[in-house]
Amino acid sequence: MTDKKTFYITTPIYYPSDKLHIGHTYTTVLADAMARFKRLQGYDVMFLTGTDEHGQKIQDKAAAKGVTPQEYVDNIVSGIVKLWDTMEISYDDFIRTTQPRHEKRVQEIFLKMYNKGDIYKSEYEGMYCKQCESFWTESQLVDGKCPDCGRPVEKAKEEAYFFKLSNYSDKLKEMLTTTDFLRPQSRVNEMLSFIDQGLQDLCISRTSFDWGVQVPIDPKHVIYVWLDALSNYITALGYPDVDGTGAEKFEKYWPCDYHLVGKEIVRFHSLIWPAMLMSLDIPVPKHVLGHGWLMFDGDKMSKSKGNVVDPVLLIERYGVDALKYFILREYTFGQDGNFTNEALINRINYDLANDLGNLVSRTVTMIDKYCGGIIPGAGKEEGPDAELKALTVSCRDKVAEKMDRFEFHLALDEIWNIVRRSNKYIDETTPWVLAKDESCKQRLDTVMHNLAEALRVVSILIYPFMHVTSDAMRTQLGLPTGDPCWEDTAVFDMLGGQKVEKTGLLFPRLDVKAEIEALEAIKEANMKAAQEAGGAEQAPAEEEAYEPYKETIEFSDFEKLDLRTGVITAAEKHPKADKLLVFQVDFGCETRQIISGVAASYKPEDCVGQKVIAVMNLAPRKLRGLESNGMILFGCGADGKHTFASADCKPGTVVG
Ligand code: ME8
Ligand code: MG
Repeated sequence: MTDKKTFYITTPIYYPSDKLHIGHTYTTVLADAMARFKRLQGYDVMFLTGTDEHGQKIQDKAAAKGVTPQEYVDNIVSGIVKLWDTMEISYDDFIRTTQPRHEKRVQEIFLKMYNKGDIYKSEYEGMYCKQCESFWTESQLVDGKCPDCGRPVEKAKEEAYFFKLSNYSDKLKEMLTTTDFLRPQSRVNEMLSFIDQGLQDLCISRTSFDWGVQVPIDPKHVIYVWLDALSNYITALGYPDVDGTGAEKFEKYWPCDYHLVGKEIVRFHSLIWPAMLMSLDIPVPKHVLGHGWLMFDGDKMSKSKGNVVDPVLLIERYGVDALKYFILREYTFGQDGNFTNEALINRINYDLANDLGNLVSRTVTMIDKYCGGIIPGAGKEEGPDAELKALTVSCRDKVAEKMDRFEFHLALDEIWNIVRRSNKYIDETTPWVLAKDESCKQRLDTVMHNLAEALRVVSILIYPFMHVTSDAMRTQLGLPTGDPCWEDTAVFDMLGGQKVEKTGLLFPRLDVKAEIEALEAIKEANMKAAQEAGGAEQAPAEEEAYEPYKETIEFSDFEKLDLRTGVITAAEKHPKADKLLVFQVDFGCETRQIISGVAASYKPEDCVGQKVIAVMNLAPRKLRGLESNGMILFGCGADGKHTFASADCKPGTVVG
């Protein structure tokens, strides 16, 4: 046993129902940065992540694929583990709810709560959202749909075990109002109003599927996911001590310092979870932190919408550190943030390539050129030296203060103050001028020393956020890599005699336009693939055979359409969208530009000379920056193939 202070942080355990996207990466990157920061500060850290593998949705997905649920989750979980490996996520344990170490402890937890009199058997009837695995009361539904995900819910009724959540209303209220258990404050008010509406007892078992942990006293029931899932935070620490080996980790790390969760599951973590712990007579976690969502073009990322951002792709293009930096720097903890490719590329270019990358490369190049590659020792303080030094050595406290408030973006900005100040210091001290005058050699050495010191401190401070870059910087400065020492950030005269090592640029500058075009093209392709896959998933084969007719319209409605024949005189691919073709169509009295989504069916050159029928009076609209004025009619096959509709008349003939 050590007597170091402990720090226990968790992410939600993710559903292995699909590949993870950048939203899951977001929580995990925040938790990882915090875990690394606390380790750097000398804490004994326990960082837990994992997967939540039971439930009807997984069982259904596995059945649809023709594999067992276990095979299904094993496959997805191995992908998740690989993703965290690629991102070098420094978790200390990865818990899977299908592991025996978890299952047997969940059963024991159920028994303890049952024996306490907090669990009883009854019948459940409610509105159930399969996606969120949540029961809702009618009044909680929004427009008759799940208030969390907006999907349709279904009526469900069955014999079930219940947890007396209502018993704990007062204690929960007290916990929420007298401690800073839940942050941010806005979520506290939300939870209090939940309690004020009257907490209903929680259904904690199901009989309608069997992919779950069996209720120990009633094997036809499985424990319903939230009781199973939330328990992971203590089962991973060995609670309860089912095999008599002692729950040493539990003794050491519980209560948890921070459960990091997305805002949609704050309710489970700040009402159900503490109530369960109260029932077990163990302390509640110190904090639950609810963060906002990463949105995509203002919409929540979701697999079925096809608007998910794949972290692997971004890592392959820009590296792990660029992605981590972006996630940590761009968004404010607690608030929603919009993911855009522009913001990503700009952060990489301005903060990483320009500010940091340039500073490192300029400094190392100058030490190489002016000092024979050896970092000079400290010299006499002059001019802006004191300011650079003061700013650098005082940074750690500011970073620590921001980190304690989970203000990752501000912590990084503090570090970038050193980077920006150092770049300014170079402009102020003009080393290239000093280098021309032999009598300025000492001053030049001091300037080089100070720049190297500032970079050394930066290399330590950024370690929790971007340790690959930290290592690369330290290699260039001739310093050891690996776990840097927090105490070394408070001093400014450690260097002297190290040999710098010029290596490549830390972050090459990106061609903004080209990168954004490439990312947009990938996004288009992904959304198309997801739509195709999603469409096939939602519509059973027999219903796909014909397209139902639309509702009847009056002749007067039809008469509103202005249909005419035309001939295509030119065709080209849309420069920004690979599904679209841009046509110039001759209608006799005028030539119009019309854009159609038929690039998968026709090559542009095959369309020239084609007779078409077009809707002339459709309001013009812009498609990816180009105007489309009207609409060409096509036959659309079930396979997605398009065929021109045409009439063999001269351009401009009215069709009707
Ligand atoms: O809810 N923006 O698992 P899950 C930010 N198994 N964070 C996001 C996000 C987004 N767009 N999308 C997902 C579950 N997340 C349960 C948890 S815990 C005992 C059980 C992150 O796979 C965020 O942390 O749906 C969110 O709470 C979590 O992934 C949901 O993951
Ligand atoms: Mg979810």
